[in-house]
Amino acid sequence: MQLISTITELRSRLVNERAVVFVPTMGNLHEGHLNLVKMAREHGGCVVASIFVNPLQFGPSEDFDKYPRTLEADCARLQGLADVVFAPPVDEIYPAKQTVFVELPPAANELCGAARPGHFRGMATVVLKLFNIVRPQVAVFGKKDYQQLHIIRQLVAQLNLPVRIVGGETVRAADGLALSSRNQYLNATERGEAIFLYQMLQGIRQAVLQGERDFERLQNQAVETLATRGWVVDYVAVRNQSDLQPVNPVRGDPAQRELVILAAARLGNTRLLDNIEVCLVQ
Ligand code: PAF
Repeated sequence: MQLISTITELRSRLVNERAVVFVPTMGNLHEGHLNLVKMAREHGGCVVASIFVNPLQFGPSEDFDKYPRTLEADCARLQGLADVVFAPPVDEIYPAKQTVFVELPPAANELCGAARPGHFRGMATVVLKLFNIVRPQVAVFGKKDYQQLHIIRQLVAQLNLPVRIVGGETVRAADGLALSSRNQYLNATERGEAIFLYQMLQGIRQAVLQGERDFERLQNQAVETLATRGWVVDYVAVRNQSDLQPVNPVRGDPAQRELVILAAARLGNTRLLDNIEVCLVQ
């Protein structure tokens, strides 16, 4: 495995590779990331993992400064899984103030976009830059960031980028908590409570599978329950998988058979994110 920090060196390393499979990350790798890299391996070709904490996707009061940077440990974890680790410094990706951005549709201002203004614009801009730098045939992203994955699929489709996007399942701790680098911000009490987010999603999924179609009621109940347990809720939403738009049960078109229940909420200073897919049978 080779650790590379400049675009020039990366390009010369990859110039003779027939196929490149890419896993972009912000580092502080856990089993969820490693699972994506293992999926990348299955595609054959040279596996490149990037580690870059992208300042453009953090708001002014967010955790850019405290986001855990653990390059040495990350490289050790990637040994034998990735062929190349691309870990550029900030000024390699942004040698000058970035003034060109990807403009996203209004849906990017909903759900996480509503709570984190500008986040997806910064994310999409760096992903496009990384795609241009790495030029992969395939790129793997986690389903845990469901809206991010959706936006990247749109980016690729609408800007005709020659890369195939693959989504990897969320990896969970034994008690069900979705793995995330931000879980380490939780104190012991918060960590105990954190699993409730997934339990709540499972409860909604169960209700939907049992025939409940008043999604608004389910959403409102969940928000209320979370709030009484001390969570500060950004959203709980039942959406179509295909476009992440609200579900209209009356329309009953095939897309509405594949739903996803998404939630984001804060426990103390930690913002947790999770989702669960649900497929309705006729
Ligand atoms: O999901 C992440 O870790 C980041 O948003 C990504 C895709 C690496 C872009 O910075």
